[in-house]
Amino acid sequence: MAHRPFRPRGASVISVSTLITNIGELVTHAPGSDGTAGSSGPGSFAAITGAALVVEGGRVAWTCRAPRAPAADRRADCGGRAVLPGFVDSHAHLVFAGERSAEFAARMSGRPYRAGGIRTTVTATRAASQAELRAHAGRLAAEMLRQGTTTLECKSGYGLTVADERRSVAVASEITAEVTFLGAHVVPPEFEADPAGYLDLVCGPMLTACAPHARWIDVFCERGAFGADEARAVLAAGQAAGLMPRVHANQLGPGPGVQVAVEAGAASADHCTYLDDADVDALATGSTVATLLPGVEFSTRHPYPDARRLLDAGASVAIATDCNPGSCFTSSMPFCIALAVREMRMSTQEAVWAATAGGARALRRGDVGHLGVGARADLILLDAPSHAYLAYRPGVPLAAAVWQAGGLGAGAVAPKPMVAPTPAAPADGAAKPAGDAKAPSGAKAPAKTGASKS
Ligand code: NIG
Ligand code: FE
Repeated sequence: MAHRPFRPRGASVISVSTLITNIGELVTHAPGSDGTAGSSGPGSFAAITGAALVVEGGRVAWTCRAPRAPAADRRADCGGRAVLPGFVDSHAHLVFAGERSAEFAARMSGRPYRAGGIRTTVTATRAASQAELRAHAGRLAAEMLRQGTTTLECKSGYGLTVADERRSVAVASEITAEVTFLGAHVVPPEFEADPAGYLDLVCGPMLTACAPHARWIDVFCERGAFGADEARAVLAAGQAAGLMPRVHANQLGPGPGVQVAVEAGAASADHCTYLDDADVDALATGSTVATLLPGVEFSTRHPYPDARRLLDAGASVAIATDCNPGSCFTSSMPFCIALAVREMRMSTQEAVWAATAGGARALRRGDVGHLGVGARADLILLDAPSHAYLAYRPGVPLAAAVWQAGGLGAGAVAPKPMVAPTPAAPADGAAKPAGDAKAPSGAKAPAKTGASKS
């Protein structure tokens, strides 16, 4: 197969191509790219063994079995290790100050998780400077990138005044394009006696101040937070302001959240811990992704969501961290994958799909979460021969290198020029091996992890 360079619209005609080769397992989620990608259908895990990939102009230009690798300007050798699409963490709360380790410790000794703990973080967040919030959120985003997360969603929701929510979405927009306005997280203490007044504030001046920085509107639809009608009002106001809906649903008990999300055409209903048959049916038949956050159940001792029931019913399932100081303070997608496999009985393939393509679907993104030709070149090189190691070796930092849009964002693997470019080989031919390239390289600052607002 001849290599035809993929050039994104508007990209320079002259761009450096990099051949990433000697990949033990290349997870593409793009079945049929070389006719041998296994039995996966659309929307499911797909991988090529003994593979190579060409990156050009920040995009995946070509994937195939390694013996058919084409010429490129530079070459990086993966030494038989696995390459995956970068993780898409579609649910995180990174803009906050303070911490709640004492609350976590008390929970581990039997105290239940309560949504009211959010107010502790609200107090600390209001007291912090914007520079402090920016530095803290940036550190968490960098921590995520080192573990393989190349696209992340980030919510506001710990400010809960017009000014504090505005600066929260502004800080979030500095680290990602996937910014969510979550003024409807809980009713803050000063509105305790007037929740309707707070709802008016959220749907009025607060939304007006935040919408220019955000792509999504979210609401915590739960006993102790917002009810079904309030949630509908928030989502409708957000949609009228040009934001797309997603919902915190059915986290702490059964409730209307999933139905409200599906009814609003939300991209995602997140948590889905307590579902009835009607909720599962609604998720299986609608276009709303069920985003599972198993780190929350780990950290709150709630039961894990029934992922098998959702998958077997045909729902799209994503996995995300929900990184926040209260219900789950992990930034690690590999940890969540391990929990999904061990505790929610997802296969390793289902869990990796959910953490990549599933997250992309939950953000309505077609350019990330897979490594088909034309995808953004967001890649993780695992220090392991297959994706299964993410669950097989829980807690082990396996991301040897992480590329974002073709640039090395973290870890070490520096491509070096191909001295004697390998000519494109015929389909059944073996290309002449070129020199290896493995050299240490320092980690870079994380790039913005989302797409342009569309
Ligand atoms: O997704 N559920 C609401 N919000 C967060 C928890 C926030 C907190 O406890 O600070 C969540 O779990
Ligand atoms: Fe959350």
